[in-house]
Amino acid sequence: MISNKNKPLKILFASAEAAPFAKTGGLGDVGGSLPKALAELGHDVSVVIPYYRSVRDAGHDIRPAVLRVYHPLTGWTSRFNVHMTAFGSLKVYFIENSWYFGRRGIYGQPSWGYPDNALRFGFFSKAVTAFQESAALDPDIIHSNDWHTAIIPYYLRNARLRKRPGTLFTIHNAAYQGSCSRIFSKILGVKVEAYGKMNFMKAGILYADAVNTVSKKYAEEIKTSELGCGLETFIAKRGDSFSGILNGADYGKWDPATDNLIGTNYCSSTLEKKTECKKEILCHTGLVTGTDKPLLGFIGRLVIQKGVDKLAEALDGIIKLGAGVVILGEGDIRYAAAFKAAEARYPGRVKLFNEFNESLAHRIEAGSDIFLMPSMFEPCGLNQIYSLKYGTIPVVHATGGLDDVIIDADDEGENGNGFKFGLFTAADFLSAITRAVHKYHGDGAWRGLMKRAMACDFSWDRSAREYVEVYRSILNK
Ligand code: GLC
Repeated sequence: MISNKNKPLKILFASAEAAPFAKTGGLGDVGGSLPKALAELGHDVSVVIPYYRSVRDAGHDIRPAVLRVYHPLTGWTSRFNVHMTAFGSLKVYFIENSWYFGRRGIYGQPSWGYPDNALRFGFFSKAVTAFQESAALDPDIIHSNDWHTAIIPYYLRNARLRKRPGTLFTIHNAAYQGSCSRIFSKILGVKVEAYGKMNFMKAGILYADAVNTVSKKYAEEIKTSELGCGLETFIAKRGDSFSGILNGADYGKWDPATDNLIGTNYCSSTLEKKTECKKEILCHTGLVTGTDKPLLGFIGRLVIQKGVDKLAEALDGIIKLGAGVVILGEGDIRYAAAFKAAEARYPGRVKLFNEFNESLAHRIEAGSDIFLMPSMFEPCGLNQIYSLKYGTIPVVHATGGLDDVIIDADDEGENGNGFKFGLFTAADFLSAITRAVHKYHGDGAWRGLMKRAMACDFSWDRSAREYVEVYRSILNK
């Protein structure tokens, strides 16, 4: 396969999530914004996701059944419909199978997943392959993401296609591998196992033409036994065909100057208007900390990876600093209970919104002074990038994409854009927060820090160009 350097590519982006149709976290953001950025570079991009019940019920303008596919699979569900919608310059395809995707939620409920998720996403991956056989989209590249679509390159090896596409597999989080009983391996016809179980992600790592993850630092980290989650040896085998590409931010959605989900728009020359956003969120949360005290925000799934145990442990110290804390997220009920207990202990100082709420997320980004991301590990992380744009100074654990994006303000006075801590302990986290709070109350350096943060540019354009380079190197091989 020879590709001309400037020839537009035909790319099919396969994912379990793509905003605005389906999103539970960062994968949904990337599924919504990377394809758009690739299309803006002149490529012909399509996206394919499952036709979840929530997509069906949301009233999008989707053309029903552009295609009905009957496909002989290994004795299980073999029929599905493909729906389509045009979304800006993208085509978005939806694979419908009401048994698998007609249920509530994307993966299950916040604290548990459906027991047949391996079948649901195995089916989806097989269906994407069968769709290629019937519809002749003829993409140059099929780009699959995370374990849900990791077996597509494996299926494509034996697919009856007019043209064999190149394949890229992106790891958004190596901790979720689609590791499941070997029974699924038989049903799905995928013989890829790790540690006595079928492993979707391993199939992506071994069979895609190239593999990447979502920051340079995490690309190094998952080659180690500490953060590779058992995949490190397979990743090592990929040598040069494995790389790290930092995610970008969709500033069309995440820019305080234009964000229509926040009450007052502002930019770095009208910073005083950010106080209006702070007042609004204080009022909404019922927090009584006052606008002269720092408001600390946390948005994320309440799971151990996000460092919520460290946040819970640091809360007493944070309150002693005089700050208020607003937390938004759902997940493990243990942590929701811990934050609820803190709410009761410190009325008017701590507030938990135990839900997924996109518009409240924007308002918390805009209204907070400091943004907390104590993740144990973080492949990329997007909220630290959004926070910079909102002048909401991030305090982060120096791991993965957090380490790549944040420069410590105390180490690099004129370049710093946030605060980092190295040891993954509540004490280290609290000492970084303390440094941030002192700077906030300090001699005026805070404003400069906010302006520097807001001037950082992590738009998708550069990352999308890096993806195109990888696609072309695959096609040139
Ligand atoms: C996953 C990772 C997160 C990353 C996102 C998008 O959710 O945990 O770090 O930003 O995928 O790539």
